[in-house]
Amino acid sequence: MKIDVFFTPLGLVPGDLNGRGVIVVDVLRATTTIVTALANGAKAVVPAPTAEEAVRLTANLEKNDFVLAGERKVLRIEGFGLGNSPREMTREAVGGKTVFLATTNGTPALVAAQGGDPILVASVANFSAAVKRARAVFQERGDLVIVCSGREKQFALEDAYTAGRIAKAVKRGTRGVTFNDGGRVAVDLAAKYRSWTDALQASEAAALLREADLAEDVIFCARADRFDVLPTYADRRIT
Ligand code: MLT
Repeated sequence: MKIDVFFTPLGLVPGDLNGRGVIVVDVLRATTTIVTALANGAKAVVPAPTAEEAVRLTANLEKNDFVLAGERKVLRIEGFGLGNSPREMTREAVGGKTVFLATTNGTPALVAAQGGDPILVASVANFSAAVKRARAVFQERGDLVIVCSGREKQFALEDAYTAGRIAKAVKRGTRGVTFNDGGRVAVDLAAKYRSWTDALQASEAAALLREADLAEDVIFCARADRFDVLPTYADRRIT
């Protein structure tokens, strides 16, 4: 039985994850934003690898049925209705709509995970729901992949810490589980911080958000089990 953790989606090529159970993590902030949007009644979230692609995908849609959301350098993309803050994903803003989301790292990671089955979207905000389903997939298949979105194609502390906590929780009580090197390091990292808040606040991503006056987002993203929802990504849509 094996758990693999990848610290970035870099190097994944289409087909690599075919048929494997996959969890995608971008705690600050894309996967938290997706979880929040769906918990607040969005019909679906469509992750786009780029802002241009998000706009292209909406070209023939009825304006009231969708909202464009996303960030570049953590700030809302010009011309988009919403940024990438989970606090913007209110029932008023996204209820009944499809959210087309383009972010720097999170949505490209989701797109790179296509082929996985299932592809689960995890954050601190839906941690227990994600772990429950991931444990079921792992017990059934004996195999699980956790893909961290990372930051600017590099390691991101908050995602690796979350991956470690997921891996530990999924493994709990099961003998004979092996990890790839990424998994071993992630599990060690999970023991280093006392709380979600400590780990998230220590990250470079949190520092950038604080600089951009988005410190409240870090606090939002660090609260565990705010929502009992488990988004899954299939046929290019997260529902
Ligand atoms: C991303 O996808 O790069 C992140 O979610 C960045 C952000 O905090 O908006």
